[in-house]
Amino acid sequence: MSKHFTALAELSVPTIMALLDRAQYFFHQSPSNLHKVLEHKVIANVFFEPSTRTRISFEMAAKRLGADVINFDLSNSSVKKGESLYDTLRTLEAIGSDALVLRHSDDRIFETLGPKLNAPLVNAGAGKNEHPSQGLLDLFTLQREFGRVDGLHIAILGDIRHSRVAGTMMLVASRLGMKVSLCSAKEFLPSEIPQGCVVEELDKVLPEVDAVMCLRNQFERHEGLDMSYEDFHRNWGLTVERAKKMRPRAIIMHPAPINRGVEIADELVEAPSSRIFRQMENGVFVRMSILEWILRKGN
Ligand code: CP
Repeated sequence: MSKHFTALAELSVPTIMALLDRAQYFFHQSPSNLHKVLEHKVIANVFFEPSTRTRISFEMAAKRLGADVINFDLSNSSVKKGESLYDTLRTLEAIGSDALVLRHSDDRIFETLGPKLNAPLVNAGAGKNEHPSQGLLDLFTLQREFGRVDGLHIAILGDIRHSRVAGTMMLVASRLGMKVSLCSAKEFLPSEIPQGCVVEELDKVLPEVDAVMCLRNQFERHEGLDMSYEDFHRNWGLTVERAKKMRPRAIIMHPAPINRGVEIADELVEAPSSRIFRQMENGVFVRMSILEWILRKGN
């Protein structure tokens, strides 16, 4: 078994379910009563791309379990003098980090670095490929809501092609017994549709799903695309009118950051059916589960 946490696709279904069970345990504990199982451990947050939720919730998770946290500051680091990523991570290991939480723009960075490092790596978002801690918190949000993930039907909307959040969910959902409908324009769909996912018409599928997962539109990655925000919202976004077609118990999700009025109507972000801020809350419990798992294997 790998010492790293780099992709949900690499984990067995029992391991994923055990991580969710542990997140559930942390959810029910008051932070003041928690056993500080990571006391004397040091976790380095190494973000080569911007982040609010992932970085801060990994920090919160580590501190709740008693660990110390180093937040690597890219803009004032020796990377600016040309130091490589590998040398940077080796340095953080040498200085005493027990785990390295890394975000990077390279889709394959964990395959390259994983075998070379001693400290466990945690994928906090890799290019357009995987965002496994987000995938786990999305699963945990569904589990908290419906009591299970098996048998759920979710629709993923918007810029699926460039989303590492969708990348993780598309690879893992069918193994967990979920049905995934991809609802977007051809230019926003992945070039290959992963096994277990189907492309469907948004307005047709909305009355059937348990959850709608909206994604941040990454217009900056669509060279030559001639589509305004208004056109995108009208054709492919979750509009107020579309949301009325959802079942009464269905929920709205979004990994954030959100382009309000583009992939989702402003009014829906905090609507009663939205779980967007609960997803952020859940991120802390799930990341506690991940950090404990990688640092206490065998205990
Ligand atoms: N959802 C997510 O990854 O948010 P951040 O980019 O703020 O970490």
